[in-house]
Amino acid sequence: ADVFTFDPGFTSTAACESAITFIDGDKGELWYRGYPIEQLADQSHFLEVCYLLLYGELPDKAMLEDFENRVTRHTMVHEQMHNFFRGFRRDAHPMATMVGVVGAMSAFYHDSTDINDEWQREVAAIRLIAKLPTIAAMAYKYSIGQPFVYPQNDLDYASNFLNMCFSVPAEKYKVDPALSKAMDRIFTLHADHEQNASTSTVRLAGSSGANPFACIAAGIACLWGPAHGGANQAALEMLKEIGTVDRIPEYIARAKDKSDPFKLMGFGHRVYKNFDPRAKVMKESADEVLDLLGIHNNPTLQVAKELEKIALEDDYFIEKKLYPNVDFYSGIILSAMGFPTSMFTPIFALSRTVGWIAQWKEMIGDPQTKIGRPRQLYVGPKRRDYVPVKSR
Ligand code: CMC
Repeated sequence: ADVFTFDPGFTSTAACESAITFIDGDKGELWYRGYPIEQLADQSHFLEVCYLLLYGELPDKAMLEDFENRVTRHTMVHEQMHNFFRGFRRDAHPMATMVGVVGAMSAFYHDSTDINDEWQREVAAIRLIAKLPTIAAMAYKYSIGQPFVYPQNDLDYASNFLNMCFSVPAEKYKVDPALSKAMDRIFTLHADHEQNASTSTVRLAGSSGANPFACIAAGIACLWGPAHGGANQAALEMLKEIGTVDRIPEYIARAKDKSDPFKLMGFGHRVYKNFDPRAKVMKESADEVLDLLGIHNNPTLQVAKELEKIALEDDYFIEKKLYPNVDFYSGIILSAMGFPTSMFTPIFALSRTVGWIAQWKEMIGDPQTKIGRPRQLYVGPKRRDYVPVKSR
């Protein structure tokens, strides 16, 4: 009989070779194409990071301009897609809408679904990066009953997204450059994270030859779960549920109780066992945004700060190496900016799209790629003979 390695959760199996992102979980390091995340978050900006992830090197000025122009040209979605949005219930979760709409992109953009054509792969990548913010913003506008706001291509990527979410035709809205910078940083920090669950989903879907839009829709579906991208929504909702500082011990006790499935959302990571370098940058950004908006005594924020302090000092969390992750702080920023919790995971999805597509392209170009097909250890019944229903 065949013998297989048993590795539930893939804690010790490398499924591919990749030159895109490096993580050192013990040192708390994250690099995109060799560049530390802290430097990129500080000195670069999201579209440059997209270029880096997709093509492997930082662009020169002309290359960057050309790339930005290409992305900007594709920010609008097909007008008929508006009808598709209107088919959803208004109270649908924006992630539900996004899974559907992004999956449907292959029905609207056939001319970039041939995975064997390099040019079509390139166009699909650009279309996805360009249109995801528009789609996420439309999902939001639809959910609150406001008209869709078209992309405005004289704005940078992050400002354009904020404008599509927060401007209304009847009022003048101007994006605050500091908030736009914080938004851009959130995009950068989420852009890629090697073979996490949703990226592995994209690769697995792509390994069968499925088109890129279908693969990214699969990634979005996987990201939605609360153990993964859905943790940012879950973390803020947990902070709100805790409500006041005096109730924190009750929740800490629940997190430690093995018979209680409750986990402290926004804490822990499969790979980072020291600290999450994204969380460090995000925390600084959160402080800046809250200062800028003059938010100091918000109860949710007080709970967050106290919870972080207690968890970092508590033996259980120290022993299990549980630290606040990126999702713990991103929700605080997004909430301060005015996003409802249901938009947190869509924002993660639009940021991660570039990582998914870069990994997908890498996989398509890798001669070692085979269809992903895990095996199993069968633990079901031994062979037995069928018994007709009248004799059972
Ligand atoms: N609260 C309380 N206990 C926890 C937590 C937590 N957040 N996370 C892990 N543990 C415990 C867990 O019960 C286990 O205990 P024991 O050894 O006694 O069985 C131990 O720590 C190891 O945890 P694990 O579940 O085996 O670790 P994992 O690598 O399978 O899971 C994780 C990692 C991120 C899914 C998990 O820590 C978790 O569910 N955290 C909360 C959700 C979250 O914040 N997710 C976002 C991750 S970062 C962004 C992203 O990737 O999308």
